[in-house]
Amino acid sequence: MTEAESIRIVALDGPAGTGKSTVARLVAQRLGLEHLDTGAMYRAVAWACLEGGVAPDAGTAVVELAQRLSISVGSQANSTVVYVDGRDVSDAIRSAAVDKAVGPVASNAAVRAELVARQRHWAAMRHGGVLDGRDIATVVFPDAGVKVYLTASAEERARRRGGEHEGAALAAVAADLARRDHVDSTRRADPLQVALGATVLDTTSMSIDEVVEAIVRLAEGSWPTLPNVTGVAPPPPSPPPPPPPSVERPHVVSPLIAPRQRLLYNTVRAAIMAINRGWFKATYDGLHNIPDGPFILSPMHRSYVDTLLVAGVTKRRMRFLGKDTMWKYRWFRPIADGMGGIKIHREATDRESMRLCLAALAAGEPLVIYPEGRRKEGPVVRDLFDGPAYIALSAGVPIVPVGIGGSADAMGTVHKFPRRRHIHVIVGTPLYPPIDVRSKRRAAPLFTAQLLVELQYLFDDAQRVVHGFVPDH
Ligand code: CDP
Repeated sequence: MTEAESIRIVALDGPAGTGKSTVARLVAQRLGLEHLDTGAMYRAVAWACLEGGVAPDAGTAVVELAQRLSISVGSQANSTVVYVDGRDVSDAIRSAAVDKAVGPVASNAAVRAELVARQRHWAAMRHGGVLDGRDIATVVFPDAGVKVYLTASAEERARRRGGEHEGAALAAVAADLARRDHVDSTRRADPLQVALGATVLDTTSMSIDEVVEAIVRLAEGSWPTLPNVTGVAPPPPSPPPPPPPSVERPHVVSPLIAPRQRLLYNTVRAAIMAINRGWFKATYDGLHNIPDGPFILSPMHRSYVDTLLVAGVTKRRMRFLGKDTMWKYRWFRPIADGMGGIKIHREATDRESMRLCLAALAAGEPLVIYPEGRRKEGPVVRDLFDGPAYIALSAGVPIVPVGIGGSADAMGTVHKFPRRRHIHVIVGTPLYPPIDVRSKRRAAPLFTAQLLVELQYLFDDAQRVVHGFVPDH
């Protein structure tokens, strides 16, 4: 079994208007996998070109832009959610201007290499997934367990894409599709082709459900035993799942971090971990408490070295708030972005910072906020800001409290250099914000009080591990 087969990939390719994304979304639901609309990524780059005044066929400038962009793509019940550098562009990437710009962008081999790398990483992190696009089975995952090429007659595809349009308007849609098909099939870089071993499904006279059923059956044939897959097993039907605990949870969106940024983050993190383990003899507890989706990590704060220790709680890149001066020097900007910095304009209102934090969480990324605001002294956790609670309530994400014992001994407010001391970090259970909250302003202090209690417990426990006792409060 090849690696791609063992990680359960469904590759769906085909021209525009075949219903690929809709089908991919439903197939993913049936198979208990996640879905990635790769076309949305090319559209995101095309949108960013238009937004930034870069010609879509400008070669190097487009590549540099693509490598720099933070792109997050999520699959909702019946649409794709897309964030570019924290902005929700889900609708904007469907404009006629983007339709036009996406061809030249997608013909750029270096742009493709960048996005393909992000797609492979996305699937590797999930041990599989359903990906739809033009080159999934030919380039991205040639060893995919299931490869399907969806097609339909040109008239039918124009009709599906054109919706309510008739007559001349419908003809215009058809002409645009034909133009895009031509660009996609004749470009030199990864043209649209039927992959070796792919099943071709002509969906001209098939309903969406029939197409989905056919692909699910193909998957069942390819993966005879699917232990943790839902919806595939034959009846008896299981009772409907309980409603999710919070209706306010953000869409599940996957950050597709640029390989360069990931490399930077992983390298810096590896260096930090070497210091944590080698110098501080850091130990960690409760790492299993880190959720899969977005969350706010809220550690108590006694030392500058806390930030180093915090990097050890997850391999995922976490975002943090940084003063805008971090972005002052051009050469430093990619580093500030790559490390996950979120720009805070000093003179900007709280609302702007809040918007940036919410955008990061909505884009599926974890965010670190010290609820004590700045470094404090002593064994008692007190005077927390409501910020983390308020943001958690607004975004519907949990707060993960973290206790750090021994960091003040390693480098307290009186020390200039870090000393060699054992530091112990405990990750607490995630605190989910209450649901059905009428007033966030009123609910936030209560949620903060809950966080304070948890932080004190975790701090005491971590101190006990390091010192063998809890200092007097
Ligand atoms: O929704 P529609 O079928 O119109 O297209 P899409 O899936 O949103 O993709 C938009 C464009 O991105 C396509 O016309 C291709 O030029 C390009 N694309 C690509 O080159 N490779 C992919 N894997 C996905 C899309």
